[in-house]
Amino acid sequence: MKRPLPCTLRGQLTAGLVALLALACLAVGVTTALALRGFLVGRLDEQLAASGGRFAASLEHEARPDADNRPDTRGQSESTFGARLLNGTTTQAAVVHDATDRTVRLTDGDRSALARVPVDGNGHSIHLSTLGKYRVTAVNGDDGDLMITGLPLHPVEETVHRLEAVEAVLFSAALLATGIAGALWVRISLRPLQKVTARAAEVSQLPLASGEIAMPGPLPDTDPRTEVGQLGTALNQMLGHVEDALTRRHASEERLRHFAADASHELRTPVANIRGHAELALRHRGAVPAEVRHALERIGGESQRMTRLVDDLLLLARLDAGRPLEQELVDLTLLILNATDDARAAGPGHHWLLDLPEEPVTVTGDAHRLQQAIGNLLANARTHTPPGTEVTITLSTGEGNVQVDVADDGPGIPEEIQPEVFGRFIRADHARSRSTGSTGLGLAIVHAVVTAHGGTATLTSRPGHTTFRITLPG
Ligand SMILES: Nc1ncnc2c1ncn2[C@@H]1O[C@H](COP(=O)(O)OP(=O)(O)OP(=O)(O)O)[C@@H](O)[C@H]1O
Ligand SMILES: [Mg+2]
Repeated sequence: MKRPLPCTLRGQLTAGLVALLALACLAVGVTTALALRGFLVGRLDEQLAASGGRFAASLEHEARPDADNRPDTRGQSESTFGARLLNGTTTQAAVVHDATDRTVRLTDGDRSALARVPVDGNGHSIHLSTLGKYRVTAVNGDDGDLMITGLPLHPVEETVHRLEAVEAVLFSAALLATGIAGALWVRISLRPLQKVTARAAEVSQLPLASGEIAMPGPLPDTDPRTEVGQLGTALNQMLGHVEDALTRRHASEERLRHFAADASHELRTPVANIRGHAELALRHRGAVPAEVRHALERIGGESQRMTRLVDDLLLLARLDAGRPLEQELVDLTLLILNATDDARAAGPGHHWLLDLPEEPVTVTGDAHRLQQAIGNLLANARTHTPPGTEVTITLSTGEGNVQVDVADDGPGIPEEIQPEVFGRFIRADHARSRSTGSTGLGLAIVHAVVTAHGGTATLTSRPGHTTFRITLPG
């Protein structure tokens, strides 16, 4: 449904202004027309009172056949009406025309209207069928008759209509001018509001979720005496608080990142030492009790796993810190061929299928990191699916980008962890993953590496169909 009112504040204010002015014009127009009419009718009444029914009285003589005794039209203005009533019946009625009288033919309606005129010496408006509207006054004559004298109302109506016409033109022009000037004025007054809106919109576009955010500066010219100024001041204060909070959050993120990077870096050496010593002890010649050998083997295996974990954490911390990647030409076709060879060797129970374009596909980036990302996807397809699963690796080129799809017909990823599967330490089966040595960092690394290359990593999964897609700018 269309809204009847203009929905912008500017439109509403302008429409309101014009509507109020229109109301005021209407009130002025009606009042002046009524006042003018009242004044002019009052003048007519005065004239009628002054004439004192002279013209009507002179009609009395007309009844006589003497030509010299014609009604006295002298001093009577044009269209003056006179009538003589005897016992409520009109006996004579005439109107002054060209300084002489002329008999007026009256209808029954006119006669009864004349008979109803109160005899109070005051003016009353009546309508005569042949003459139109008249202002009449009735006075008692000498011979028990009634003298009615009237003056036409149409000059009064004409004057009032003329005033109304002039006012209509004037007021229309005033309304038009107010509409245009008002719209401009409102526009100028609301200009600071547009600045506030633009600033709020600018902030809403900022990626506030994480990282260091450069907030726009405060709004200038915020006069607290105006409403828009108060809004601007409030917005500035809010932006100040938001900026403060974001700066503190960024600092804490940075601290955490440094801590993770430092901790994993510091852990590398002791873990490597533990592993080295365990291996050394295992190489000990001579009899080593079986339990001791088993324990040493466990220490070696766990420290190996810990080395991987520490390396993954360090890599993530470095990618988080935005460390620049190598920018070299990477032959993705070759990279995928090698990765699939490795996967085939590690998982001979799976069926590994390749779908590569004829021409070698290259991208610019960090070969080592990309290999790690694709290797992680293949390792997942191997470790999280039963033997006999078919894994298809497809490389294709699209509009300015390159896509790598790793699809398997394994059991799929539970729906509840799908939205966060690229997060850290996210695993479907925690209990099992501990025994298989998975940490839940593999896909986080895929995501971080691909994002650092300006690409995207996505997942679609249902039982029997799981596809990870990496899209890189080509
Ligand atoms: N192809 C797949 N089929 C079924 N589940 C998968 C597949 N790929 C990943 N997952 C599920 O997603 C989880 C997260 O994978 P991710 O690679 O991040 O961690 P991980 O493989 O458990 O450990 P890591 O890779 O660090 O050794 C896995 O634990 C697994 O439950
Ligand atoms: Mg994995």
